[in-house]
Amino acid sequence: MRRTCVFSVVFFLLFLSLPPPSLSQPSHSVYNSFLKCFSKRTKTPQPQIAKNVFSPTNPAYSSVLRAYIRNARFNTSSTPKPTIIVTPRSYSHVSAAVLCSKPLHFVFKIRSGGHDYDGLSYISDKPFFVLDMSNIRDVSVDVAENSAWISAGATLGEVYYKIWEKSKVHGFPAGGCPTVGVGGHLSGGGYGNMLRKFGLSVDHLIDAKIVDVRGRVLDRKAMGEDLFWAISGGGGASFGVVLGYKVKLVPVPPVVTVFRVEQYMAGGAVDIVHKWQFVGPKTDRNLFMRMLIQPVTRNKVKTVRASVVALFLGKADDVVSLLSKELPELALKKENCTEMTWFQSALWWDNRVNATQTDPKVFLDRNLDSSSFGKRKSDYVATEIPRNGIESLFKKMIELGKIGLVFNPYGGKMAEIAEDATPFPHRNMLFKIQYSVNWKESSPEIEKGYLNEAKELHSFMTRFVSKSPRSAYLNYRDVDIGVNDHGKNSYKEGEVYGRMYFGKNFDRLVKIKTKVDPRNFFRNEQSIPTLPRKF
Ligand SMILES: Cc1cc2nc3c(=O)[nH]c(=O)nc-3n(C[C@H](O)[C@H](O)[C@H](O)COP(=O)(O)OP(=O)(O)OC[C@H]3O[C@@H](n4cnc5c(N)ncnc54)[C@H](O)[C@@H]3O)c2cc1C
Ligand SMILES: *[C@@H]1O[C@H](CO)[C@@H](O)[C@H](O)[C@H]1NC(C)=O
Ligand SMILES: *[C@@H]1O[C@H](CO)[C@@H](O)[C@H](O)[C@H]1NC(C)=O
Ligand SMILES: *[C@@H]1O[C@H](CO)[C@@H](O)[C@H](O)[C@H]1NC(C)=O
Repeated sequence: MRRTCVFSVVFFLLFLSLPPPSLSQPSHSVYNSFLKCFSKRTKTPQPQIAKNVFSPTNPAYSSVLRAYIRNARFNTSSTPKPTIIVTPRSYSHVSAAVLCSKPLHFVFKIRSGGHDYDGLSYISDKPFFVLDMSNIRDVSVDVAENSAWISAGATLGEVYYKIWEKSKVHGFPAGGCPTVGVGGHLSGGGYGNMLRKFGLSVDHLIDAKIVDVRGRVLDRKAMGEDLFWAISGGGGASFGVVLGYKVKLVPVPPVVTVFRVEQYMAGGAVDIVHKWQFVGPKTDRNLFMRMLIQPVTRNKVKTVRASVVALFLGKADDVVSLLSKELPELALKKENCTEMTWFQSALWWDNRVNATQTDPKVFLDRNLDSSSFGKRKSDYVATEIPRNGIESLFKKMIELGKIGLVFNPYGGKMAEIAEDATPFPHRNMLFKIQYSVNWKESSPEIEKGYLNEAKELHSFMTRFVSKSPRSAYLNYRDVDIGVNDHGKNSYKEGEVYGRMYFGKNFDRLVKIKTKVDPRNFFRNEQSIPTLPRKF
């Protein structure tokens, strides 16, 4: 089982009051008019098209919908379901889906890997369609040119696998979970355990293709630098359908080192976490030390465990000697380290203990169809939290009982990239916090309890984290920070979450949005709004 990637389902309060589906047009007639239009535009006979366009009466509808649900919170009978699911197999299918949806006035959701933490790619509180990109998944790697074309529907595991097939010294800086989709991950920024050395995934884009609101297939040149910038971290779903990206590969050494070490409160976890803040974001940029903080019961005593999970782009001896100087509290020994290839480290990062004995093909596996229930939130820290702050945080986490935190160190390359180079503005932060809670059995009460735990810890952290605006990472989607009524033009609501995700870059995103999609066809609960109209 993949522990990192298994994720689960919760219910927004938002969805407890569902409006009735569009009463003006029964769904079969919507389906028929869509099918007719789609068939005409793609010049394909209707019976054949029915393999790519699904209504709820189609026997395959549930399995198609479920195939990319990655959070059990949104896998229930009361979860809102799309009126139509389209699974395009070509760019012209995507264009037709956009053009045929426009006159029907449904919300048009786009899904690639389905890992949106709050399910926004496949649920809505308004009648909606889902465009599922999972069949557009071609990945081609050109080692001579140090580049790759990666389609929106590909998974990160497929990207890493295809690179591995061609080269053992090339890599790509992106997320650790192999089933995450390129479409959401790259259009939302994308980071992984090489970010201190290489920055974000979007710092390596060469080109892209999208289908715009007029159904046109546009590459970087045709879409222009503004739109290209917007889909380099501003979230694709506000601007068009991303078909794929051309990316630069990065060099990785033939041998890398991974380790995981942990400590409890009695063994000095408070000091380690405190000191980590001064080392993790400043040390050698070849070293990425993630800090996991988790309340646990040990020997019948409630305590907190601090675990450091790390990738070092180099040899074990070197990282052991580096940390014996910079973070001796960790007491890292060579026996705690494992040397392996970069690709194996990706397997290891996905919690495969025996990475060196694991079949690389596991990264091609898409047939998960199971997940736990979960909730994520995010924050950024700009100044080190004082030692007594860490102490009070541990106390709070023990009191709450389940929710954990993940600290991801920045610094290195991240701090060298301008805040407006891409829509992602959080370049000068010390580290990012992910709030993380998963659970296996659920009920509305259980769910509410965990969602509240997350909110309470987030509120507790206010004094320690970035302010005005308090920041958040788009790819750690969190509807708690605000949603817009996406039936209306809701600039004011959009500005609330928009500033948290994008800071000053929000203004440029709004301008681009207003220009490329003035009628707000590409919208969701947290999309970029258009500029309010002046009368
Ligand atoms: C287990 C797990 C681990 C994760 N690890 C990391 C990590 O290490 N680093 C990191 O940065 N993030 C990580 N994430 C977050 C992840 O990057 C985001 O959830 C990302 O948006 C997922 O992309 P997707 O295509 O799988 O998701 P989807 O749910 O399909 O889409 C997410 C958003 O992007 C939009 N979108 C998707 N495809 C397209 C497209 N083709 N065109 C336009 N818009 C599109 C959707 O409409 C939605 O708004 C993780 C998430 C999970 C669940
Ligand atoms: C690290 O290695 C040392 C020495 O072998 C061992 O005592 C310790 O338990 C290891 N730590 C972890 C977290 O595995
Ligand atoms: C890892 O491999 C070793 C040796 O092959 C085996 O004994 C062990 O059970 C494996 N561990 C896991 C978690 O698969
Ligand atoms: C969704 O629910 C079905 C049963 O209703 C289950 O078989 C499947 O594993 C679940 N999928 C996810 C992603 O939770």
